[in-house]
Amino acid sequence: MEKNPLTLIGTQLVRSDASEKVLGAAKYVDDLHFSDTVYLAIRTAEVASGALRSIDISKARGSHGVLAVLTHADIPGENQMGSPVPDYPILLKPGDEIRYVGDYVAFVVAHTREQALRAAEKVTVMVAEKKPVLSLNERIRELQKGGDYVPAVHQKIRKGDSDPKTMFDSCDYVFEGDFFADYQEHAYLETQGMIALYDQDNVMTIYGSMQCPYYVQNGVARALGFPINRIRIIQSVTGGAFGGKEEVPTYFAIPAALAAYHLHRPVKLVLSREEDIQWTSKRHPIKSRYKVGIADYGRLRSIQVEAHADIGGHSTLSPTVLWRSSVHAAGAYEIPNVRVDVYGHYTNKVPSGAYRGFGSPQVFIGIEGIIDDVADHLKKDRLYLRKINALEKGKTTPTGHLLPESVGAKKTLEEVERLSDWERLKERVAQFNREHKHLKRGVGIAHIHYGVALGAMGHALDASGAFVNVLPDGSISVHIGGTEMGQGAKTVIGAIVGEVLQQPMEKIHVYQTDTFFLPDSGPTVASRTTVFSGNAAVLACQELLKTLTALYSTEMAVPPQSVRYTGGVFSNTEGQKPVGFGELAGIALKKNIGLCATGWFQTPRLTWDPENGFGEAYVTYSFASQIVVVEVDCLTAEVVVKEVYTAHDVGKALNPDGVIGQIHGGFVQGMGYALYENLKVNEKGKIVSDNFNTLTIPTIHETPEIFKVSIVEEPFSKGPFGAKGIGEPSLIPTPAAIANAVSDAIGKRVREIPIRKEYLLDLIRTAP
Ligand code: MOS
Repeated sequence: MEKNPLTLIGTQLVRSDASEKVLGAAKYVDDLHFSDTVYLAIRTAEVASGALRSIDISKARGSHGVLAVLTHADIPGENQMGSPVPDYPILLKPGDEIRYVGDYVAFVVAHTREQALRAAEKVTVMVAEKKPVLSLNERIRELQKGGDYVPAVHQKIRKGDSDPKTMFDSCDYVFEGDFFADYQEHAYLETQGMIALYDQDNVMTIYGSMQCPYYVQNGVARALGFPINRIRIIQSVTGGAFGGKEEVPTYFAIPAALAAYHLHRPVKLVLSREEDIQWTSKRHPIKSRYKVGIADYGRLRSIQVEAHADIGGHSTLSPTVLWRSSVHAAGAYEIPNVRVDVYGHYTNKVPSGAYRGFGSPQVFIGIEGIIDDVADHLKKDRLYLRKINALEKGKTTPTGHLLPESVGAKKTLEEVERLSDWERLKERVAQFNREHKHLKRGVGIAHIHYGVALGAMGHALDASGAFVNVLPDGSISVHIGGTEMGQGAKTVIGAIVGEVLQQPMEKIHVYQTDTFFLPDSGPTVASRTTVFSGNAAVLACQELLKTLTALYSTEMAVPPQSVRYTGGVFSNTEGQKPVGFGELAGIALKKNIGLCATGWFQTPRLTWDPENGFGEAYVTYSFASQIVVVEVDCLTAEVVVKEVYTAHDVGKALNPDGVIGQIHGGFVQGMGYALYENLKVNEKGKIVSDNFNTLTIPTIHETPEIFKVSIVEEPFSKGPFGAKGIGEPSLIPTPAAIANAVSDAIGKRVREIPIRKEYLLDLIRTAP
């Protein structure tokens, strides 16, 4: 079939969920009401470490309005929600170890949320308290001492000469440095929330705010001891997630489901902001030590990275997050000799987990800081030094992945050079600094790559489905296994379906995700949705076109190869009457020909050696380069971002406005991480900055006024219309670019993010 000119892909599209959200009509989980609903409150351990001695629920049970108080004895299935590592009981029983303040002791259900909360306080918990481990350094020292301490996670990469004794022998210069990246809170606008219903057909139906309905389905089935076919998860309109609604919603769906199971009433659990910040995952704090060897006037030759992450009280997704840290630790460069070790350590704090970038922003600050050190020492331009080391088609990544295509890395560097008018920009900033005393401006660059989808370590989950149904009136309903969480999935999938079927967006409805319609399509994470749900949708639509083409050929008595489909109209080279999509669909349905199809996209196979951490880590990589200009007030350590120039290789921008929206949002969130985040944990293991009066995130006032974006399109042959991913790459370069810009402004290397004022003032005041 011949190619049609693209009519939707790459054009300006109206976001399909825009008006319902702008008008306030969208129903988030807390807006859903079912009669006889009861409310659940969680009683947590409230101490960070110790052994649970006893639980007394008698007072809580007698409290006003209380319907049930559930403990470990009330779990019909497995008392376990840790996956892949079974280290996370749902409800603690006497004798169990408490690992962080948010561990569950009891679930209290009452007529109102207030009654449930009041009763939860009356659960009497006896604990033999232990001194909590709250510092990552304490664990690093334990590891370095030798002995029998084993870290919870160890991920490694070995390439070329990875012997630390010899790998730097052939280098002309060696640079070293320590870096630290602290917590970041997701700060999604909508807190975690679930409603469980258990009355229809013996099926547990759950509505909730989430990214990964299939994780919730599997987790609830395990806890209830139900077969998976009796758990139905319907994602409600979700107000932001950023990785924070990846595995975490399972931990709230389970309590709601348990209560609905026992009470046969709808159970609602929507967290307050304080509960949400106290109990739910954050970006991993990571301490890293870099050693980088240079040869041939600036070419990277050898790199050794040792990184340590605080995984908190339960391992949850840490093995996967830290695998991604290891793959990205050496940066987006060609480098022959690589040795990376990333360790994950338990502490008695909130479990660290998935967060846009998934363990990579924390390590990019290291390699990108060192690259600047190298450039400065060799007196070379920082952009030039990145260019000569950048990946290209035919080069290999730090894990030894030979890149066959879709490598826009250098192009993104050239684009930020052009956008920023690089030589003039440097001159402008130098001029500003000559004219000012305590105000100093600085320019920072960061260059990154990002593996799209789950990669070699996530093969088993890396497939996705789509179900496309053409109705008698010619309208089209689409179900996908991926979710809309605010990123624009519904719009881009609608555009893909519209493009393949050559139908306008108005005829297409992409539904909220519901596990009822499709088999386990994996998680909506890893910037994989456009590629995976998108490809599945393409496959389903191609099936439909095959059916319609065959029908036209029979109706018109012409050979199938003579049938053409252009502009939404079937015709043929022999001059028979053209028939539009809707009309032909109507004929098909009258003839009892089914017009629904399922598409299933499986990840292309990757060759990976897990023993040595070597090979094809991901199916493809997105690339980005970013230049920022900051202004530092050296008296107050106030930092303001003045200008941003950012270029992203996304393969193909299917919905360019959506891509730009991601880039704007990702930047601001990354800027919040670099400059404003101030999450504090007290000596009892409790987060004290547990609402937005104490936890700072940027607002529109902090958004830089000069913000220039360039989209680079180096097509990925296995992506829909050539697309890769942008969800996470939009944030990843920003913390490194800002850290480098502040370093440039003050003339000293910033080694920590968030760049807190106390830290920055100290750095400014110390002698160089
Ligand atoms: Mo995730 S951080 O949503 O891959």
